[in-house]
Amino acid sequence: MADQEVLDPAAPPALHLLSAFLATEPGESILSLARACGGGSLTETVQRFVWDHLLKTADGNGCAPYMKKFLKKLIMEIESNHGNVLDELYEQYASYMTSLKEDNIVKENARVCKCLSFLFPSGCSELQSCARPRKVIVPLQCSLNMLEGDTGCSIWPSSLFLSELILSFPDIFSEKSCFEVGSGVGLVGICLAHVKASKVILSDGDLSTLANMKLNLEMNQLNTETTLSETTSENPRVVKCIHLPWESVSESELQDYMPDIILGADVIYDPSCLPHLVRVLAILLKMKSSFTKKSEEGCENPSNHIKANGVSQGKDPHLNGLDRSNSYANSVISSTGPMAYVATVIRNIDTFNYFLELANQADLTVADLTGVMRPLDLLPYMHSYDRSTIRLFSLSCK
Ligand SMILES: C[S@@+](CC[C@H](N)C(=O)[O-])C[C@H]1O[C@@H](n2cnc3c(N)ncnc32)[C@H](O)[C@@H]1O
Repeated sequence: MADQEVLDPAAPPALHLLSAFLATEPGESILSLARACGGGSLTETVQRFVWDHLLKTADGNGCAPYMKKFLKKLIMEIESNHGNVLDELYEQYASYMTSLKEDNIVKENARVCKCLSFLFPSGCSELQSCARPRKVIVPLQCSLNMLEGDTGCSIWPSSLFLSELILSFPDIFSEKSCFEVGSGVGLVGICLAHVKASKVILSDGDLSTLANMKLNLEMNQLNTETTLSETTSENPRVVKCIHLPWESVSESELQDYMPDIILGADVIYDPSCLPHLVRVLAILLKMKSSFTKKSEEGCENPSNHIKANGVSQGKDPHLNGLDRSNSYANSVISSTGPMAYVATVIRNIDTFNYFLELANQADLTVADLTGVMRPLDLLPYMHSYDRSTIRLFSLSCK
């Protein structure tokens, strides 16, 4: 793109630059998007946009260390290419130099507010729900330390994927009671509330994660309930956040919840937790199955009917692109019985195979939906998010 008078913040590529900055993407990634706005270089128009839309308005919202680092990279690149740096950029950098001490920049458990913008492609007339907005913005407080709160205070890629899935196929989740395990920062729950799930129950085993999750829900204008046993209201603006360590939660504690859909993002990584996780998933899946079967056919235990033997592939591997995904999605919507969607990066194949073995022992069917149910790419500006590494599985019992 040639240098021009102003860049439109509502249209790509400037929209992507702005969204990446609000999501606190790495400096290199912001610079590459900025270059794309200037046809390959950091022109004065691009610098003016950066100043007006990225730096001037965001100043003072707690992201100063991030902005200082980014400004340094930006100025260095412009100077090394013998370009003219806008005075405002120099002045802002100088003010950070005096106001921010270096050791604040990488403070151990420092929190940042990331604003994720899910950008819907234009011309959505072929999609399921055309009335949805073009952009869903989710502010989230997260830690810069991936391990804080037993890993639950930062955003993991599989929750980005599940969020895209929910926003791409709202009809699967709307009017459904949804229960998430290991919810972390609460992003998936915010998306579920957005598509009007009838109930949203989020859970985590770590108390500091739970406190951070509640804060995030409130930042997104959602009310929270925290008791385990009280009946959950069917109000999509109310999200239940419960302390649920997989090791100690009892079947009777879970019996109040008969979710239609169970979700989990990046929860398959610690082999010592997996037997407990699978137990919780099996209880939640069988709760409603047995209830439904009992009312339909008497008191048979559904777990006696189907045994999993490893992972079965999605039935139609040719499904590809929106229309075909929609037809698969429709078959999911119309399927009876509860279903779990687990998105995961397989970091250790032995750990994942152990999960499959445990699911098999618990009479759960696992299907690989990765190539079958593909969400829209709603985070096109987020270079740090590599969706090709994420696998999607469904778990069910019959
Ligand atoms: C890798 S993080 C993923 C968080 C979130 N789902 C995401 O994708 O961003 C794993 C989450 O599972 C939770 N978790 C780990 N072990 C758990 C256990 N035994 N019981 C309950 N929650 C657990 C952690 O507290 C953390 O929130």
